[in-house]
Amino acid sequence: MSKNNESILVIDDAQNTLEILERWLTNYGYTVYTSTSVESGIEVLDNTTIDLVITDLKMPKVSGLEMVQYVKENYKDVEIIMITGYASIEGAVEAVKAGAQEYLAKPFTEDELLQAVNNALEKLHMHVSGNIEKDVVAEEYGIIGQSPAIKQVFQSIKKASVTSATVLITGESGTGKELVARAIHYNSDRASSSFVPVNCGGIPENLLESELFGHVKGSFTGANETRAGFFQTAEGGTIFLDEISETSMTMQVKLLRVLQDKRVFMVGSKRSQKVDLRIVAATNKNLREIVKKGYFREDLFYRLNVLAIDVPPLRERGDDILILINHFAKRFSEELGKQKPTFSQKSLEILKNYYWPGNVRELENMIQRIIVMTDSDKIKVPDLPALLRCSAPAKRDLNRTLEEVEAEYIKNVLQHVDGNKTKAAKILDIDRKTLRNKLKNYKKSKQN
Ligand SMILES: Nc1ncnc2c1ncn2[C@@H]1O[C@H](COP(=O)(O)OP(=O)(O)OP(=O)(O)O)[C@@H](O)[C@H]1O
Ligand SMILES: [Mg+2]
Repeated sequence: MSKNNESILVIDDAQNTLEILERWLTNYGYTVYTSTSVESGIEVLDNTTIDLVITDLKMPKVSGLEMVQYVKENYKDVEIIMITGYASIEGAVEAVKAGAQEYLAKPFTEDELLQAVNNALEKLHMHVSGNIEKDVVAEEYGIIGQSPAIKQVFQSIKKASVTSATVLITGESGTGKELVARAIHYNSDRASSSFVPVNCGGIPENLLESELFGHVKGSFTGANETRAGFFQTAEGGTIFLDEISETSMTMQVKLLRVLQDKRVFMVGSKRSQKVDLRIVAATNKNLREIVKKGYFREDLFYRLNVLAIDVPPLRERGDDILILINHFAKRFSEELGKQKPTFSQKSLEILKNYYWPGNVRELENMIQRIIVMTDSDKIKVPDLPALLRCSAPAKRDLNRTLEEVEAEYIKNVLQHVDGNKTKAAKILDIDRKTLRNKLKNYKKSKQN
């Protein structure tokens, strides 16, 4: 028995035909759903994941042609085989005109059925794979993508690489700011010296100065010897000041001095040293706003913002999402020694339409999770994390109010983060209080 993991919906008003088809198809490993009418068939289609519909043409109430139309309008990637009562040319023409890929004339043999099913599903695989299976590497500087938005970033990297000017990289978290910083360094004439990343938000304030500028022996308790800081290590190369918005006002003054004089003072030393390096800074905050509020020095902002690169969020990069899915699926499958799976059209649509608050990093983690969790060679909607599946707009149900849709979305996000309201509020980009109030209101309106 071959292993097929596609799902097939069979619609025929004749119960005995349904039974025979079900037996034949399940024998070959397909998951089979049966319906005796188009109406109940549509219900199955709307509530499960179906790859192929086999429908009888002539049925007492609603004809199989309407099923074909419904599928064509609502499920572009579902294939259709039409069963016609007798080998009539008209029947076949009608079926094909309506959009059925194959037709079968009654009576047909098991082999003929399987052949038709194979043909139809092969087409399905072809157009699923047609989307992202091309292993064309659409990347520059190791940064994957070919959307107009990311191409602009490539342009900026190119410009920045040929100068030594300070660069400020902005963009939401997980968009690839550090990749951009590295790309600039490794394409500049400083590439043979070091690229030194410093997470300004991750180092305690009292240590940051000595970590950055180094210290001389005896300058504070525990300073048993003179030690170089990140600025000395980056000599000749690039220092990457990540999360620059997290630096204190005092540290900002010191950084400003380095930018102005190209000299640093080691902690405990009265003499400054000349440094030759490029500074690249990054932030996922709106630094201009922080300047306005008075938490970030305006003069330092302008010194950093000589060249500005804004890395666009993933949701603004169009089909780059598909290329990235392919890239990560390949990488994680190879790491796990698995065959790289294909993705069904519907699952790709859902992945593409998701909001991606965590951008490329979130996508990377999600694909890794999917590859680890799924053993099938085809990823379908049920294989996607619940958060994604539920954030897809509910089909056809256009009678829901905005509040109902919002309530459901919030519920799904909460589920995804195991009920952690702080995390949920962050994903939803609202504060905790707003979230609490919304939840309270939903409860109330449910009681009413
Ligand atoms: N275009 C891309 N192609 C391939 N991988 C990418 C791309 N963009 C980001 N990544 C990957 O996504 C992850 C996040 O990227 P990176 O650390 O550069 O983002 P970031 O903007 O610095 O995030 P944060 O603001 O959270 O510090 C990394 O694993 C990186 O390799
Ligand atoms: Mg980063």
